[in-house]
Amino acid sequence: MVDTPIKLNDGTSIPWLGFGTGTILYGKNAELMVAAAVRAGITHLDGAQAYTNEESLGAGITASGKPRSELYVTTKLHQLDAGETVRDSLLASLKKLKLDYVDLFLIHTPTAFKEPGRLKEIWKQFEAVKAEGLTKSIGVSNFRITQLKEILDGATVPPVINQIEYHPYVLKDLKALREFQAQHGIVTESYGAQSPLFRAKGGPVDPVLTRVAQRLSETGSQQYNEGHVLLLWQREKGIVVVTTTAKESRLADYIAVANAPPLTQEEIAAIDEAGSQWHRRHFTAFMPDTD
Ligand SMILES: NC(=O)c1ccc[n+]([C@@H]2O[C@H](COP(=O)([O-])OP(=O)(O)OC[C@H]3O[C@@H](n4cnc5c(N)ncnc54)[C@H](OP(=O)(O)O)[C@@H]3O)[C@@H](O)[C@H]2O)c1
Repeated sequence: MVDTPIKLNDGTSIPWLGFGTGTILYGKNAELMVAAAVRAGITHLDGAQAYTNEESLGAGITASGKPRSELYVTTKLHQLDAGETVRDSLLASLKKLKLDYVDLFLIHTPTAFKEPGRLKEIWKQFEAVKAEGLTKSIGVSNFRITQLKEILDGATVPPVINQIEYHPYVLKDLKALREFQAQHGIVTESYGAQSPLFRAKGGPVDPVLTRVAQRLSETGSQQYNEGHVLLLWQREKGIVVVTTTAKESRLADYIAVANAPPLTQEEIAAIDEAGSQWHRRHFTAFMPDTD
């Protein structure tokens, strides 16, 4: 199932596959696609203040007709105006989303809070909005080890998730980060999972994905493609995936991954090996690859 729960370190869980309202939907009205995604079977929705379309995410949730309790909704803190608190900012998001709480609230990027000690202070405010019930869980996005260490020092609640660009072409450079997260029980949530298909085409992973997709398609009547293989590769690694589309037809394609057989250890190793030959990172170019 695409809503297979992945356990988080605060006792909650998150559906494995999420539908995002950034990238192709960034700054656009996402209502129709959000409602279509929920109707197709996706219960995990990923929004952000920076996408400037939280109202349409909220409208899509309403239009879907799905009870709030059956949905998992994320939003992310972009930045704070002078004098504005994290609580003020989250309340403004909740108003736009027409929700009483979100399931997950993330610091979108650490570089928005560069002054010494600021990240730690922001994280304390995140702990407070969680305690108040305005969000069920708190986490981060685009963090590297240095920034994770900064907020973990003195934290009473560790982040549940770090949402980062993740696909075979960043595997090698983010190895240390993933190991650090594993030590602290911080789940990786990926975006950019389909990058090898259209942001970094023609690379060493391509033939491996095609071979694996063919093998999977021979197991039954369902046809699998390279995109499915990339999603399955993440699933095998226990990574929560956020993807998106501007096409309703693509939703059925994403959902079809739910019943796919698992990849073999040889296939996972072959994708890892091919991915490690290249380094391609599309997003957050201002962030270091390591530490
Ligand atoms: N935290 C952050 O800083 C951050 C940054 C980026 C994204 N995100 C979140 O993650 C979400 C997804 O990000 P993403 O767009 O990078 O995800 P992605 O899964 O890498 O890319 C999604 C795109 O892949 C295309 N696609 C899917 N299957 C394909 C196939 N078989 N062949 C060719 N193209 C295919 C789709 O195109 P069509 O539209 O044509 O179907 C879609 O637009 C965003 O909406 C946002 O919520 C977060």
